[in-house]
Amino acid sequence: MNGKVVCVTGASGFIASWLVKLLLDRGYTVKATVRDLGDPKRTEHLRALDGASERLQLFKANLLEEGSFDAAFDGCECVFHTASPCFYDTKDPQAELLDPAVNGTLNVLGSCAKISSIKRVVVTSSTAAVIFNSRCTDDVMVDEAWFSSTDFCKRAELWYPLSKTLAEECAWKFSKENGIDMITINPSFVIGPLLQPTLNLSAALIQNLMNGAQTKSRYSLNIRSRTRRQEAWVWIISLLRPVSRRLLKA
Ligand SMILES: NC(=O)c1ccc[n+]([C@@H]2O[C@H](COP(=O)([O-])OP(=O)(O)OC[C@H]3O[C@@H](n4cnc5c(N)ncnc54)[C@H](OP(=O)(O)O)[C@@H]3O)[C@@H](O)[C@H]2O)c1
Repeated sequence: MNGKVVCVTGASGFIASWLVKLLLDRGYTVKATVRDLGDPKRTEHLRALDGASERLQLFKANLLEEGSFDAAFDGCECVFHTASPCFYDTKDPQAELLDPAVNGTLNVLGSCAKISSIKRVVVTSSTAAVIFNSRCTDDVMVDEAWFSSTDFCKRAELWYPLSKTLAEECAWKFSKENGIDMITINPSFVIGPLLQPTLNLSAALIQNLMNGAQTKSRYSLNIRSRTRRQEAWVWIISLLRPVSRRLLKA
């Protein structure tokens, strides 16, 4: 045990489940938020992790409810914010993607700003918040100064990239205005074994490629393989070491 207490939002999800596992493996006490504490598909794989019975506490929290994360964050040193709707097909982008991503991020950071024990917030953004603009061609170097263009995303109806771009922009604004030590991680396509019993978007897209199912998506898949263990380490390293503020992960 290292005695440190951290929180992971959206802990039932693919990336967050690995993050919870690696944090528990390294002796952290983990406060993990899920939307539905009564749904075994969202909680059982977390409760079964090594160290969970001693050092994992589950909290109910919804991105759309202001103050929902206060109890989970109380006493934490770091918050890993990963909860965000992660899908492409939507009939109501404002309600299904944009509101939870943007207002949810502001709710999470608002709760962080109230809690003096929190020293660092690690927000999971995406390369979707980086590459969707007219500058992005095959022969240009993309760096951490890049943001997707919200106009470009709206014109092309790229609602998930729009949600991640707006959420990250508002996170930077809020963190600067409120003196929050924040880092964003911008992964591209994260795949690997699943801890949770359901398919997340990136796993479902790979499954579709393998079984020949039609993928209703206007996004091309340009994948470089990266194991989930390497990925989850980036989140943890961002807590432990002083690093640049925006970590792009191709
Ligand atoms: N997977 C990738 O390739 C990839 C790449 C780049 C960035 N990301 C980012 O990484 C993060 C996690 O992605 P993932 O692949 O692990 O997705 P995931 O498995 O779908 O996890 C998303 C999590 O967000 C939670 N969530 C959604 N809406 C919520 C709400 N209104 N209130 C509270 N929680 C809510 C979900 O809770 P429920 O379980 O209750 O639905 C789930 O736990 C996201 O921010 C995503 O944008 C993922």
